[in-house]
Formats: sequence, structure tokens, C-alpha cells
Amino acid sequence: MQRALTLHQTTIGKKVIMALSGVVIVGFTIGHFLGNLNLYLGPEAMDGYAATLQSVPPLVWGTRLVLLLAFGAHISSAVSLWVRNVKARGSRYQKRKDLATDYAARTMYWSGPILLLFVVYHLLHFTILPAHPGEVYRNVVEGFQNPLIAGVYIAGNVALGFHIFHGIYSAFQTLGANHPRYNSYRRDAAIAISAAITIGNLSFPISVLAGLVTL
Ligand code: HEM
Repeated sequence: MQRALTLHQTTIGKKVIMALSGVVIVGFTIGHFLGNLNLYLGPEAMDGYAATLQSVPPLVWGTRLVLLLAFGAHISSAVSLWVRNVKARGSRYQKRKDLATDYAARTMYWSGPILLLFVVYHLLHFTILPAHPGEVYRNVVEGFQNPLIAGVYIAGNVALGFHIFHGIYSAFQTLGANHPRYNSYRRDAAIAISAAITIGNLSFPISVLAGLVTL
């Protein structure tokens, strides 16, 4: 007898979960980038901004909880779609013909794991084991003055750029904006959002390496 499938057990359900959790993560990333612009205003602005956020525990812990749930949902549906995809490839009746989707999916499978490693490193570096607790400006500038650490951030944010470009493009498709008349706008919107976040984030390690932001 066939059992009814709940939404998260179906391929489209998993894609909807990927898309919605991705929207939450991209929303955080934009907010995080805007907050990090305080780096250009100096130590008082950056440390004051961080201290203001930390002074509202429900905001900090609420954001952490939402992010944890979003990352958990995003990664678990990615893994289960990947397993499904590998199994489907084993069958000669399910050859994939959609080259564009294949290319996007391949990008996600290398950029996703790199991003996960980057985020774990990033949390250890600045949030869990900061060199100077409470001195966010100093932690960031001192960190990025080390070319190896700056290199890790540059590589992580390049992976982020590829990942959110394909992610935003696919999310539009999954969430219904897939019409030939709109497809070029969809691509332009994905390029504009991912390029803005990536260039903005890359500017932080590059400005420190170039000596434009100093201690
Ligand atoms: C060059 C780019 C980035 C810089 C300069 C940066 C900087 C920082 C800093 C300084 C903190 C610690 C704030 C504090 O202690 O108050 C932090 C926390 C964090 N960052 Fe980033 N970040 C960058 C990119 C990213 C990216 C791409 C992500 C993931 C999408 C990310 C996710 C997080 C998360 C989840 C936290 C922890 C927030 C918390 O729970 O306290 N960051 N970041």
C-alpha cells in the first residue's frame, strides 16, 4: 500500500525547504554585511554596534535559533536531494537532460561544503574563540592583517558568491518565478544580489590587506 508523503519527503518539498531556508540565510547575510560596514567608521562604531546587539539577548539568541534551524533545514535537504540524485543517476531510465540545472547543482556541491567549513572556521575565529573578547574591530583588523586568514575569508566569500548566485536563481524557479518572459530578470536579479554581497564582503579583508583599514 502507498503511504501519503509529507511535503518534506518529496523532491519539490525539499527544494521549497532549501529555497525558504536559503532566503532566511541570505537575509541574515545582507544584514550582517550592512552591520560590518561599521568597520569603515572605526573601532568605536564597530565595537559599539556589536555591544548594542549583544545588549539585547532575545535578539541575539532569537537570531541564532532561527539561523540554526535554517542552516539545519538547508543542509539536511541538500544532503537528501544529493542522495536522491545519486540514486537516480544509477538508473538508465532517469538520465538527466537539463544541463543548466546540472551545472548549477554541481556548483552547489563544491561551494556548499566549502561554505560550511568557512562558517565553522568563522564562528571559531570571531565568536567562540576571539583573540580579544569584546574588541570586534581589533579582532577583524588583526585577523585580516594575516594574509593566510584574509585568504581564507576571500576564498570563503568567493564560494559564497557562486553559491548564492545559483541559490537565488534556483529559488526563484522553485518558488514559482519561472516564466520565459521573466527568466532574464531572474538571472539579472540573482547576479545583482550575489555580486553586491560578494564584492561588499571581499572589500573587508582586501581593505585591511591594502592598509586602508588599520589598527
Ligand atoms: C568578510 C566577511 C565577514 C566579516 C568581516 C564578518 C565578521 C564577523 C564578526 C566580526 C563577527 C562577530 C561579531 C561579534 O562578536 O559581535 C561575526 C559573526 C558571525 N558571522 Fe560573520 N563576517 C563575515 C562574513 C560572514 C558570512 C559570509 C557568514 C555566513 C553566511 C557569516 C556568519 C556569521 C555568523 C553566523 C556569526 C555569529 C553571530 C552570533 O551568533 O554571534 N559571516 N562575523
